[in-house]
Amino acid sequence: MTMTEDDEPAVELEARLEEQDSFEPPESFVEQANVADEGIYEAFAENWPDCWERAADLLEWDAPYGEVLDDSNPPFFEWFVDGKLNASANCLDRHVENGAKNRAAIKWEGEPGETRTYTYGDLLTEVESFAAALGELGVEEDDVVTLYLPMIPELPIAMLACARIGAPHSVVFAGFSADALATRMNSADSEYLVTCDGYYRRGEALNHKEKADKGLRGVDHEVETVVVDRLGDELNHFLGASAHDYDELVDEHAGASVEPVSRDAEDMLFLMYTSGTTGQPKGVKHTTGGYLAYAAWTSHAVLDVKPEDTYWCAADIGWITGHSYIVYGPLALGTTTVMYEGTPDYPERDRLWELVETNDVDIFYTAPTAIRAFMKWGEEYPQRHDLSSLRLLGTVGEPINPRAWKWYYKHIGGEECPIVDTWWQTETGGMMITTLPGINTMKPGSAGPPLPGIDATVVDVEGEEIVAGEAGYLTVQRPWPGMLRTLYRNDERFISEYWAEYSDTNSDDPDDWVYFPEDGAKLDGDGYITILGRVDDVINVSGHRLGTMEIESAIVGTEGVAEAAVVGGDHEVKGEAVYAYAILEDGQEPTDGMRERIVAGVEDAIGPIARPEEVIFTPELPKTRSGKIMRRLLEDIASGNELGDTSTLRNPDVVDDIVDRVGGD
Ligand code: WT7
Repeated sequence: MTMTEDDEPAVELEARLEEQDSFEPPESFVEQANVADEGIYEAFAENWPDCWERAADLLEWDAPYGEVLDDSNPPFFEWFVDGKLNASANCLDRHVENGAKNRAAIKWEGEPGETRTYTYGDLLTEVESFAAALGELGVEEDDVVTLYLPMIPELPIAMLACARIGAPHSVVFAGFSADALATRMNSADSEYLVTCDGYYRRGEALNHKEKADKGLRGVDHEVETVVVDRLGDELNHFLGASAHDYDELVDEHAGASVEPVSRDAEDMLFLMYTSGTTGQPKGVKHTTGGYLAYAAWTSHAVLDVKPEDTYWCAADIGWITGHSYIVYGPLALGTTTVMYEGTPDYPERDRLWELVETNDVDIFYTAPTAIRAFMKWGEEYPQRHDLSSLRLLGTVGEPINPRAWKWYYKHIGGEECPIVDTWWQTETGGMMITTLPGINTMKPGSAGPPLPGIDATVVDVEGEEIVAGEAGYLTVQRPWPGMLRTLYRNDERFISEYWAEYSDTNSDDPDDWVYFPEDGAKLDGDGYITILGRVDDVINVSGHRLGTMEIESAIVGTEGVAEAAVVGGDHEVKGEAVYAYAILEDGQEPTDGMRERIVAGVEDAIGPIARPEEVIFTPELPKTRSGKIMRRLLEDIASGNELGDTSTLRNPDVVDDIVDRVGGD
């Protein structure tokens, strides 16, 4: 009997895939790829920084820029100097003018299954109405407008309306708590809030306005609020004196024409708060020209987005991934972007695949944590659907293990779609390290080489480049258009957080300034970079960045808790999970009630995403002789790793005691 490949038993196929450690992009993909000429790496290197004109060329400028890069005042780099443009005009008007008025811009599906499609024409109309309404409410150029909205079309509409009138938005993830909203509004002095009554999660109508109202009580200044009625009769809500109904505002301004404000390339487009090592979230400032050009360029080069595509990034717009790759990048390129309100397992675990099939999705981009969940649920769910419309897959947010990569490749991509594993950060604005899907060999588990024009280098503690095969710290040695410009109103922290480690901060030579993303990384002989994870006190839970200090201060804020240490421990699906070690005050009992209060305290301060997987009560924390908490040890305990030598501790006995308590109750 001869055996053709098709007859190959599934087990053998699986075994073959398991051993394979590199994959070539399929010829059919290469032939149609936006970028397929490997000469692009050299072309960018030779012509740096002017190579970035290629990104700027994807946009329409009201006034041309002069210099591509002004690096005279590092690390305050400026891009596309003196250029003028408007982000909403680039995402809407120019497509409408170029004949795409009736092309779908946003295809949205609510969790209960209702759908809404906005053509580019529809989207422009509603954005103009809402922009006019914002103007009437008093929003002026450079006023920060906070958007506390879930995955409903009014979120991108509000973003683009803000962009149209030159008001930077600050989107706060809807899953964040009332306290988190208040902190961000206070920090940005934001006097405007757009929120909604609620939204659906696993069949339930969640009350969001209650959280927004509670947050507003913690804001130290007057706020004008707009409320979107997402739930209708499902949840009645009451508009207070300073709140306006979104639909009424849009109706009142129906047909309004709002000229897009010409913004300077370096004017702020938005602010996005992210977690850092201290308890205070960092307000990352992104600009209009560099950010938009970079989001558009990476969508074009890496995600291979074409105007006729249906493209779906299954992230939340409340994070940078959604800003760059649900809203700005895809819309700047004039494609159709899909938005889904709910969770992947409602009503069943095939919800996303059903969406891919019904929308004929060409490109799908998600996080490794989601892929690991799909893998756990089993291949029967994707198998129920025809996924052959897919051409390219992507992942972002955390390292992807080769097993999950291969599962994605086989069961979602049908072994015919390249996968891009894209490393980047809130601060970088867009992708930095990834293969180009029409050019590079893929190696599961390794993000790939730096993108053309990106000078990412792995160095040792001293800042010296390491040799292939070794691990070190990731750095970026040259600026790039999508980079953050500063931390909002805190240039000093901007320098100390990102530049102090490897730069000569007294120098005004741009070459002496090195950006440090705080990730560890490994380099291989082909120049591929494998990201090893954060080297600061930040945990990456399901691709979301959480600061351990923020969680610790929430725990210590619980009555009866004296001290706390929070670390990340390995988690099968989430990548990392939050492990909290708590020491109680004398006389307090480690009861379930206490544990629940601690968890509730964390949810109130940050949100359910920061919920500790385990709260471990301990009489002491392991400390070095100099009194520093041994976090590494706590991480190893949480992950169930072999523990190294603990004899150098001030209190070695505490270790056995803690080990006994983990998972022990
Ligand atoms: C941190 C940034 C980028 C948008 C979502 C997260 C980790 C990101 C990868 C990847 C390994 C990754 C890094 C980074 N990370 N992408 N492909 N492989 N790690 O944005 O919240 O700003 O977090 O996410 O540790 O520093 P963020």
